[in-house]
Amino acid sequence: MPSVAVNGIALHYHDDGPREGSPVIFIHAFPLHRAMCDGLIGVLVEAGYRVITPDLRGVGGSEVPPGPYPMSLLAADVLGLADELGLDRFVLGGLSMGGYVSLALLRQAPERVRAVILADTRAGADSDEGKANRETTAQKAEREGSSAIADSMLPRLLAPATINHKADVVAEVRAMIESNSPMGIAATARGMALRADSTDLLPEIDIPTLIIVGELDAITPPDESRFMQGRIPDATLTIIRDAGHLSNIDQPEEFNIKLIHFLLAHPS
Ligand code: MLT
Repeated sequence: MPSVAVNGIALHYHDDGPREGSPVIFIHAFPLHRAMCDGLIGVLVEAGYRVITPDLRGVGGSEVPPGPYPMSLLAADVLGLADELGLDRFVLGGLSMGGYVSLALLRQAPERVRAVILADTRAGADSDEGKANRETTAQKAEREGSSAIADSMLPRLLAPATINHKADVVAEVRAMIESNSPMGIAATARGMALRADSTDLLPEIDIPTLIIVGELDAITPPDESRFMQGRIPDATLTIIRDAGHLSNIDQPEEFNIKLIHFLLAHPS
């Protein structure tokens, strides 16, 4: 799979669909990598979109430089990738941390984004307690490895029905986390703790916005999405039933239907 040199590192990405298709960049969650977006690629490519899913620095096939990785740096990496691919304007989507990165990118280069999807995410910064928890996560990754992070996070990432009845899906998510570098996980956790509050940005988002959230999301609950919808001028909110935090993995069909309807309603 290809990679590009951006901001001094090799960034790995997947690029599907017709080159001339309207581009959609979708950014993964923490502590996963780009393969968590695989389930949405087919439906978008079938509809004629070009879909780019990067591995953010520190995870998947991307380089693992020393951290921390602020969300603004991860956003600059994504912009660097778009530059390398010659993408002037694109649809931007991100789930959870991918949403934090999307908001940071919208602050840096709003003119590059023609529509945005904010899935299972929040605008606010971490509380002091949240920041302390990030440091605990980072140290756990460094001392005990990625499997320990999978053990502690998996129960909150997926809906109870997935955990209890879809062992193959749980195993896939676990394998993604375990394949990531503990150093990269630690650097990303510390970077999330540094992120700015994006609430002030929300009224400035003057492009079509789809907000998606799993009704059972325990990490970024639906109220966070309602908060964003109330402040972004052209935002549609979709709550996905029987889905937890990784709503695209718990309920892929429903997630994809909402995504494709939004994109078709906002052609380039
Ligand atoms: C994620 O899914 O990206 C993370 O759980 C987000 C977070 O911990 O704030």
